[in-house]
Amino acid sequence: MSGDSEEPSEAALPADARGSEPQSGRRRNPNSPLAQSWRDVLLRLSLSLAIDVELEQLTRDFAEGLASLLPNAAVGACVVSGNGSGPVVVSRLPTGMAPDLRRDPTRLFPGFHDERIFELEDGAVGSTLHLASPLQALSPLQVQIGTQAALVLAAAARRVRLYIRAEESARSIRKLQAQVIQNEKLASLGQIVAGVVHELNNPLTSIIAYSDYLKRKVNARAPYADCEDDLERLRRIGEAAARILNFSRDLVAYARPSADVPGTVQVHEVVEKALVFCEHELKGAKISIQRELDPGLPPVRGMAGQLTQVFVNLFTNAAHAMTGEGGELRIAMHTNAAQHTLTVEVADSGVGIDEQDMPQIFEPFFTTKGEGRGTGLGLSIVRGIVDAHGGTIHATSSPGEGTLFSLTLPLAAMVPSLLPPAG
Ligand SMILES: Nc1ncnc2c1ncn2[C@@H]1O[C@H](COP(=O)(O)OP(=O)(O)OP(=O)(O)O)[C@@H](O)[C@H]1O
Ligand SMILES: [Mg+2]
Repeated sequence: MSGDSEEPSEAALPADARGSEPQSGRRRNPNSPLAQSWRDVLLRLSLSLAIDVELEQLTRDFAEGLASLLPNAAVGACVVSGNGSGPVVVSRLPTGMAPDLRRDPTRLFPGFHDERIFELEDGAVGSTLHLASPLQALSPLQVQIGTQAALVLAAAARRVRLYIRAEESARSIRKLQAQVIQNEKLASLGQIVAGVVHELNNPLTSIIAYSDYLKRKVNARAPYADCEDDLERLRRIGEAAARILNFSRDLVAYARPSADVPGTVQVHEVVEKALVFCEHELKGAKISIQRELDPGLPPVRGMAGQLTQVFVNLFTNAAHAMTGEGGELRIAMHTNAAQHTLTVEVADSGVGIDEQDMPQIFEPFFTTKGEGRGTGLGLSIVRGIVDAHGGTIHATSSPGEGTLFSLTLPLAAMVPSLLPPAG
């Protein structure tokens, strides 16, 4: 921005307003034509400032604009960014003066005769506007201009901050929209898979029935010297088919949350079922499983399907964290008689969680997994389910060593509100 010959210039100031403070008892009239025209000038400067810029750019544009209006003064500004990246400091010296780069927390222009600092009310503590005069005191009009200019800069900085925040919100809304679309895709894929799994039931039932029939037939004609191996093969075919059938039935039941009614849940059974669902993932990652489960522990009351989902998510995360040279997944449980709770610990020897990520892991859409690998919903769903069961979950982790999730649920007797309605 350059000076405008029609602007009120410092040279045009009356003698009493130049280079000296008002004499005692005399105050400059804030509504004088001169003050009024300076306000107009500053208003025009304010309107010329863009809002879709970084704070640094705004501060620089403003300082340049004001410096061109006040050629005999040094102009500086220190605008606190608010995002931890430190204040933006710019200074403009009167023409022909060498810059003094020494920084002083209170002065931008050390060595100058007079420097006024105007606090900016821009929504961040510590932002200031500086006006300085090299050889004499700033004039009362210059001080008045400084006061008005500080208001202009503060308002502009507030606008820029709001714009930056609005941009951030728009970005996160776009990200959430993309994730919702992705989740809808996954949900419809889940329905297709459930349909496919359901279709498998009939052929599997036939395989089981016919292998059983053949076994019985061969047995009835025994003894055949060379039949033992074939009988064993038939038994294995039947067993494998029965296993797939069980798995597919469980999978369909798991995918159908509406069928999930509150009841008494033996947690070790839920854990075992979740392990079956995750078997492929865990085996693929060469993970050994250490079960410290106790079938004798009292049950909790809740939704078996939802609790299965909790453990499926925890085990899947553990498997993803141990993709190096295998690892160990330890699942242990114990009760706390005094608190009438049951605690399940799920510990892995995986990569662990960075300290700075820890506060966010239960937040929806927080993920450190690459594009397409994780939606970041697993643990938020886990926490939602655990909360709905009146329980708690927390994680501790040592990066490079592993992670422990500790999940505590109230025992069945303690949660009458979750009981199914009588009758
Ligand atoms: N056992 C674990 N070891 C190391 N990091 C973990 C573990 N469990 C969770 N995390 C971290 O917490 C983040 C969030 O987990 P969450 O289950 O919510 O999402 P995700 O696994 O990334 O994606 P999704 O479960 O939706 O497919 C993970 O991306 C990972 O960084
Ligand atoms: Mg997950």
